[in-house]
Amino acid sequence: MIGDLANKIKESKIVGSDLEAVLLSVCALGDDKKEEDLSLILKLPELNISQIKEYQGTEQVKKFIFRPQNLSEYVGQEKAKKVIKTNLLKIKKLRPVHFLIDGLKGHGKSTLAKIIANSLDSECYEIIASEITLDKLTEIINWINTCEKLPIIFIDEIHGLDGKIIEILYPIMEDYKIEGKRIKPFVLIGATTEKNVLVQNYSPFVDRFQVQITLERYMVDDIVKILKQYKEKIYPEFKVDDNDLKTIAENCKFTPRIAISMLEDLLIIEKVEEVLDMHNIIIDGLDSVDIKILQILDKSEKPVGEEALAMMLGLSRKDYKFLHEAYLIEMGYMARGRTGRFITEKGKKVLEKLDKQS
Ligand SMILES: Nc1ncnc2c1ncn2[C@@H]1O[C@H](COP(=O)(O)OP(=O)(O)OP(=O)(O)O)[C@@H](O)[C@H]1O
Ligand SMILES: [Mg+2]
Repeated sequence: MIGDLANKIKESKIVGSDLEAVLLSVCALGDDKKEEDLSLILKLPELNISQIKEYQGTEQVKKFIFRPQNLSEYVGQEKAKKVIKTNLLKIKKLRPVHFLIDGLKGHGKSTLAKIIANSLDSECYEIIASEITLDKLTEIINWINTCEKLPIIFIDEIHGLDGKIIEILYPIMEDYKIEGKRIKPFVLIGATTEKNVLVQNYSPFVDRFQVQITLERYMVDDIVKILKQYKEKIYPEFKVDDNDLKTIAENCKFTPRIAISMLEDLLIIEKVEEVLDMHNIIIDGLDSVDIKILQILDKSEKPVGEEALAMMLGLSRKDYKFLHEAYLIEMGYMARGRTGRFITEKGKKVLEKLDKQS
């Protein structure tokens, strides 16, 4: 019970004075605490928007970010775009279908979900999975049933859905009914960086997404195109050198979000070498953490476990895995065996090259 409790509190990510308040309330419950009592206590107070004073001045942000609004502005991912085009027609001519989009961080999942919604005569309800409680689900279903256009529910980080919610969603997604009550036909779009978690735990849920899209790594040319388009849309008055864009594309782990952030830095500091430096790029597109991982593996006589590596680097398991390991393995610098991770010849070569440079 104590273990359960500790885990629940840990998962709730409550800290500081809120945590103190939670602990006091839990003590006050005495020995016969019930699951429901605990959930109530762990519910953080919601932000009271009515108390926020709106800004009355005239200053405006020029244009914050640019996000592709339609499939022709969405660069690369040709396979995904083809599948989506067919299914948009299917929705218009036949019936709604559900989409599951998986891909690495910053690779354009949310952008794609919004493009799907934009391409249909729809209204979109966007929510992060961890925010969907039973009450929220009721609210969402009522929203669907009163929506005048085609309702689209976009659930981000869908691997974070509560098991209970998933069980309720199965029949709804298939029959558009809950306990005999009809639900207006809708389109569900889920985005995830961890499809494997969903498949392992809830494979029937995954099966109910008729369209499953896995985003691919971008090529250097795709990233250059993304950067050129971004610059033209938001900062047409700035000049940038094509070679600098190529350098960014080669050093951003082929990730659009990282590339865009480097581009904005380039517009300010103008020297691409300094931009790479600011982003801790050391050599061949690898950052200081990547190099440290390779050095640890190089020194170790045995393969190293994921948890141990993350701990040595002071990273969460997720950041270790998605920001570093995925890239290093895909590019062949390290590999994953049954007993742990190890460095490859290519990994050793890059360390030697670095040694020679310094
Ligand atoms: N194919 C693309 N064409 C043009 N721009 C793109 C493309 N993919 C991503 N971008 C841009 O890169 C940035 C990150 O994309 P987005 O937020 O959609 O990624 P994400 O996969 O949802 O990331 P996260 O996993 O962190 O939620 C956005 O500014 C987006 O417009
Ligand atoms: Mg996203």
